[in-house]
Amino acid sequence: MALTIRSVRAVEILDSRARPTLSVSLEIAGGAVVRAGVPAGTSTGAREAVELRDGDPRRYGGQGVLRAVAAINGEIDAALAGRSFISLAAFDDALIALDGTPDKSRLGANSLVGVSIAAARGFAAATGTALWQAFVGRLDFPRFPVPHFNILSGGVQALTALDFQECMIAPVGAPTIAEAVRAGAEIYAALRSLLHGRGLVAALGDEGGFAPELRQPEAALELLVDAIAAAGYHPGLEGVAIAVDAAATRFFAAGTYTIAGEPHSSDDLIARYSEMVGRFPIRLIEDGLADTDWAGWERLTAALGDRVELAGDDLFCTNPSTIALAVDRGIANAVLIKPNQIGTVSETLHAMRICRDAGYRRFVAHRSGETPDAFIADLAVGTGTGRLKAGAPARGERVAKYDRLLQIAAGDAGCGLTYGLR
Ligand code: PGA
Ligand code: ZN
Repeated sequence: MALTIRSVRAVEILDSRARPTLSVSLEIAGGAVVRAGVPAGTSTGAREAVELRDGDPRRYGGQGVLRAVAAINGEIDAALAGRSFISLAAFDDALIALDGTPDKSRLGANSLVGVSIAAARGFAAATGTALWQAFVGRLDFPRFPVPHFNILSGGVQALTALDFQECMIAPVGAPTIAEAVRAGAEIYAALRSLLHGRGLVAALGDEGGFAPELRQPEAALELLVDAIAAAGYHPGLEGVAIAVDAAATRFFAAGTYTIAGEPHSSDDLIARYSEMVGRFPIRLIEDGLADTDWAGWERLTAALGDRVELAGDDLFCTNPSTIALAVDRGIANAVLIKPNQIGTVSETLHAMRICRDAGYRRFVAHRSGETPDAFIADLAVGTGTGRLKAGAPARGERVAKYDRLLQIAAGDAGCGLTYGLR
């Protein structure tokens, strides 16, 4: 069914980090208005599509998005208003052509992704389906993903000395999405009590995970295992498993990884990961090595690729060409999927297709800067990725994604969907 655009509008709002972002609204024929809130990263990859920010130091330290608002209300609205599109792909092609740059820097990846997500909602509204249903048939059979809750944070998300960015729990063995969300919340509460009991006063990281003063990643993983058990769950690959986002690009310089002050070569770090995988129920390591260390990634994949999912985030930036290159070299076996890293929903689906055809897992993800927009929950369900990360099961902008999964499960069409990893 064709979608006719009446107008495109944007306003500058705040994201969860107190930084400006965009709220986009699209009025479609018939008068319905669909909206999108634009996420933004802190530990952004070097190959990401480029956001348009004002750079005016007198407002929000240069982070304002009034130029992006002007681009949407001006040029983008003028180009799209009154036009009809037969598909989201055709709509996104028009956006990409209008921008005209390979990295979306002219109109801004933040502008484009907001308009694209709103349009995806517009197509679903025009056909009278739930958003997740609009993705059915594009990739894998739909299913509820295993939520990966970031409950213990370090790196740039926290002010502590812990170098690993995210320590996550994944209730792989839960029977339903509702039970998985319950496990996440109960383990989060158990971790809070454990930290309190051990005198580890903790701040919260940007994604709602606790940020206790720890230095060694193994100490963080021990706490996770203890919290899982304290909440009455089984820490294990079949029960509640662990995942880490090392975000290693940040602690890599001049060929050396520095963890808690100790230098590691790529091979030292690979050996340390192997030990961790033997000791803890780790099912996935994200950005285990830096985005420039492709030779290291080859050896990491050879060493651990048949035991754990090795996911690239900064490594790939949801970029179809970069993923294709890595597939050729046998680097990693899973890919973080973040629509704003590439700039449109259609290109995100294209990246997911390349992954699927190569046998790489897809791990749909939020950003550290979020709004209550729960688009990624629908995306993960409709494309059947089996994996989603949206931060801690606390803070409104994170919970919105998990709550959306619960709402889909409670809806008529959602009841029949199964839960779990693919
Ligand atoms: P970002 O971090 O959203 O700040 O890039 C999240 C991640 O690294 O997965
Ligand atoms: Zn990451």
